[in-house]
Amino acid sequence: MRRNIDMENFSYTETQDKFRNEILNGLKENPKHLLSKYFYDKKGDLLFQQIMKMPEYYLTDCELEIFTEKTADLANAINAFDEPFDLIELGAGDATKSSFLLDFLVKQNADFTYMPIDISGNIIEVLEDRLALKIPDLHIVGLNGEYFEMLDKVNEISSKRKVILFLGSNIGNMEVEEAYHFCSELRQKLNPGDILLIGFDLKKNPHTILQAYNDKTGITAAFNLNLLTRINEGLNADFDVNTFQHYQTYDPLTGACRSYLISLKDQMVTIENEKIQFKENEAVYMEISQKYSLDEINVMAAKNGFEPLREISDSKKWFIDAIWEVV
Ligand code: AVJ
Repeated sequence: MRRNIDMENFSYTETQDKFRNEILNGLKENPKHLLSKYFYDKKGDLLFQQIMKMPEYYLTDCELEIFTEKTADLANAINAFDEPFDLIELGAGDATKSSFLLDFLVKQNADFTYMPIDISGNIIEVLEDRLALKIPDLHIVGLNGEYFEMLDKVNEISSKRKVILFLGSNIGNMEVEEAYHFCSELRQKLNPGDILLIGFDLKKNPHTILQAYNDKTGITAAFNLNLLTRINEGLNADFDVNTFQHYQTYDPLTGACRSYLISLKDQMVTIENEKIQFKENEAVYMEISQKYSLDEINVMAAKNGFEPLREISDSKKWFIDAIWEVV
């Protein structure tokens, strides 16, 4: 069974307008900032795939280890064998990690439908084709759109128990306050007994964390700078990408790992009809990759209507997939 709910064609101009406004508003603020959700165009997707292959970027390897070595633990933790359920993945991407769980569940005859949600319509199509080949017996319904809008759609078409996957420390791309808000909004769309399986990158040796975002090969730098190229192409802008430099910080007290682009000279950039002035050494704040302690994670669950059931970690204990039940 395959069905594709596709919002992309309906919202093209809206998406384009939102992109324009969010980019321009961010650059008119002081300090200037851009939004990391816009990193992922075609080139950005490729660069992120390269990041995941870098030896310094431990996150993907750690979570992949969890999904390959502790598959049965994951399946049991989400109560996969009790009753039919919908397995909804937020930001599914290419579903490399989750496919190990999907394969396991199908082989164990769990009764579920896999519903990957992604804002990239292209990724959803590719994913459906790949999974149909890899796991022929999987029921899959791809959802192309924003997380919460698509969750409303799911609630309209199915009243089964929900298990939500939010992997890869994607929650790290929110400020702590935003992450709380996200969890409470997600909670509103779920019912008691539903489950959230959510990946967190843990606080650890600060050098290890900083290096993961500050590789010597310059892939992370290129990933950040690619957003300027995307703005050049999408908003008819004239950023000289060579005059901006990637700068990364990690604060071991707060757990905030932040990236910036530094303007290497006084310069003016034109975006559509607007002119934006950059001072020499002025920073544009790009992205947060927030790190948490286990205590902080459990507090976040409790304060937003979830009960932490258990957490499954890699052998180095650098990363956890936490399992929370809606109360
Ligand atoms: C995709 C949000 C998990 O913050 O670790 C990787 C993105 N940025 N290197 C992260 C990213 C720079 C990544 N997440």
